[in-house]
Amino acid sequence: MSSSESIRSMLRRESAGGEAVVRGWLRTVRHGKGVSFLDVSDGSCMDGLQVVASPETAGYEEVVKQLSTGCSVVARGELVDSPAKGQRFELKARDVELVGDAGEDYPLQKKRHSFEFLRTIAHLRPRTNTIGAVLRVRNAASMAIHEFFQREEFFYLHTPIITASDAEGAGEMFRVTTLPVGDPPRNKEGQVDDAQDFFSRPAYLTVSGQLEGEIGALAMSRVYTFGPTFRAENSNTARHLAEFWMVEPEAAFYDLDDLAALSERFLKSVFKDVLDRCEDDMAFFEKRIEKQAIERMKTVIERPFERIPYHEAIAILEKARDRGESFEFPVGFGLDLQSEHERYLTEKHTGCPIVVTDWPKDIKAFYMYRNDDEETVAAMDVLVGGVGEIIGGSQREHRADVLEATIRAQGLEPDDYWWYLDLRRFGSVPHAGFGLGFERIIQFITGMANIRDVIPFPRTPGSAEF
Ligand code: 4AD
Ligand code: MG
Repeated sequence: MSSSESIRSMLRRESAGGEAVVRGWLRTVRHGKGVSFLDVSDGSCMDGLQVVASPETAGYEEVVKQLSTGCSVVARGELVDSPAKGQRFELKARDVELVGDAGEDYPLQKKRHSFEFLRTIAHLRPRTNTIGAVLRVRNAASMAIHEFFQREEFFYLHTPIITASDAEGAGEMFRVTTLPVGDPPRNKEGQVDDAQDFFSRPAYLTVSGQLEGEIGALAMSRVYTFGPTFRAENSNTARHLAEFWMVEPEAAFYDLDDLAALSERFLKSVFKDVLDRCEDDMAFFEKRIEKQAIERMKTVIERPFERIPYHEAIAILEKARDRGESFEFPVGFGLDLQSEHERYLTEKHTGCPIVVTDWPKDIKAFYMYRNDDEETVAAMDVLVGGVGEIIGGSQREHRADVLEATIRAQGLEPDDYWWYLDLRRFGSVPHAGFGLGFERIIQFITGMANIRDVIPFPRTPGSAEF
């Protein structure tokens, strides 16, 4: 069973007439009088290939007539022009081989299943149209991301997944340990003796590759990471995961303006590539999931992003509230923006993506560059319709003394960040970077409402089955 031509490339053949072998899973089977239609999918594209079998097909009675949805098959025959609407070719089967039976209790039947139900069968849901399309879009977006950064001369840097530092200083980390959970070794004071743990110290899953990204940027000028990140926060929302993928560029000699411009070029480039490469999948999302899916991306590609300082964003929201817009959460200077505020700003106020800049220092992480006003930091969040915050980033504090003071002021321990502080002592330069939530950009592209449905194996509080 060597590798074979995918259905995707089969459907792109110049003309009918050649031999073809299709290998895949049955999405549907229809048996008529002396003819059977098998809709075979191999996941390579939205379309399946229709296999037409008849009594002349080898194994028609014994094999074909017994087939049901979910079975895996190999069908050989001739690729012919299809008389049916909506498909170029079909396979006139000479023989059909059953590879794996599925039986009657195959959970995916030809009807719409709820996304909640599909999450309970994550081992089978990639075979559905929607999740298949999501996975192909994830693939295309990943490549588009790499291509963008390669074009802009950013090096792909592999930052660690296990780390001892809390990159966000928010304490939302998963512990990594090999100590016996039930009976860990203890020191004289009766506390768990971390010195006996695998790394001789407490270790965690990383919340962000940024701090190590900065090490890369201060040597190679421009780098990016693209890897899994982990947050042990108890958020049960449609846009939070405990394990998600983040894209984090970091660039030396960049200020906040440079960073905002980079984020705009970046998003536009990824959207354009995905629209070009996933035409069928995007048409599916537009038809079945979200009417605006393609339009939303086209708007983003065409229109310049708006930049709004945080204090102005607050003023806009306060005015909206006073005019009767009902927000569940309070609005005011010094408060973080909630999803509803982000969406109001980008969907109702401007109708295009917004870069909100210069946030109050007290609600942002320790590493952000302190502005001269002593009140704000050079931070930016990029907000888009439907999702809200898709990117968070900042110019970094590159002055050792200011950084150390902030670390202390935020109740963190400078010793824990010694090498990060050291970077500011040896050839420090202004630099900046951001993090894009990969699943959030996939939500934006596809219009999928719940982040659990744009990642193959979602990790959320209470759920890590597959
Ligand atoms: O805003 P965040 O927390 O920023 C950072 O982690 C920075 N260290 C990034 C950097 O500057 N290098 O996260 C960045 C983005 C958010 O804008 C959001 O899109 C996504 O990551 N994100 C999440 N996505 C899914 N589930 C979660 N729990 C997420 N938390 C953040
Ligand atoms: Mg953020």
